[in-house]
Amino acid sequence: MEQTFAIIKPRAVADRESGKIIDMIEAAGFNIVAMEKITISPAQAQELYAEHKERSFFGEMVQSMTSSPVIIMKLSKDNAVLAWRDLMGATNPSQALPGTIRAIFGKSIGENATHGSDSLASAARELKIFFGGCC
Ligand code: RTP
Ligand code: MG
Repeated sequence: MEQTFAIIKPRAVADRESGKIIDMIEAAGFNIVAMEKITISPAQAQELYAEHKERSFFGEMVQSMTSSPVIIMKLSKDNAVLAWRDLMGATNPSQALPGTIRAIFGKSIGENATHGSDSLASAARELKIFFGGCC
């Protein structure tokens, strides 16, 4: 079965919304293969978002992703990468479809509740950064 990488971002964890988000993940049929609460290091955040390193918001995003704990997950399901992107909704919560995680829990484009890999190649790369060879 396909695997993808998910993060419940700092603001959603701090606001005690993790349980509701995990509930939606399980209700959508994902298997939680691995899950851990961690504080992301600046080096991990920079590697995760390397494709955005020239963007104006890069420093702010690394700062916010490392500011307090997150929950990282390895998820599996048929078509997990696309299915998780669909469940999250659009990057900007104001454009996310009703019922999606970002529509419900997102506060702004920077505090949009969750991260999800955008392709199979990204999923493999990101899972390796955060879970290495485990699970
Ligand atoms: P993610 O990687 O977190 O799952 O988000 P995404 O694929 O939907 O969006 P992406 O383009 O990869 O952007 C990564 C994160 O950067 C923040 N962002 N801020 N201020 C801005 O204009 C801006 N644009 C993007 C968002 O928090 C987004 O999740
Ligand atoms: Mg992305």
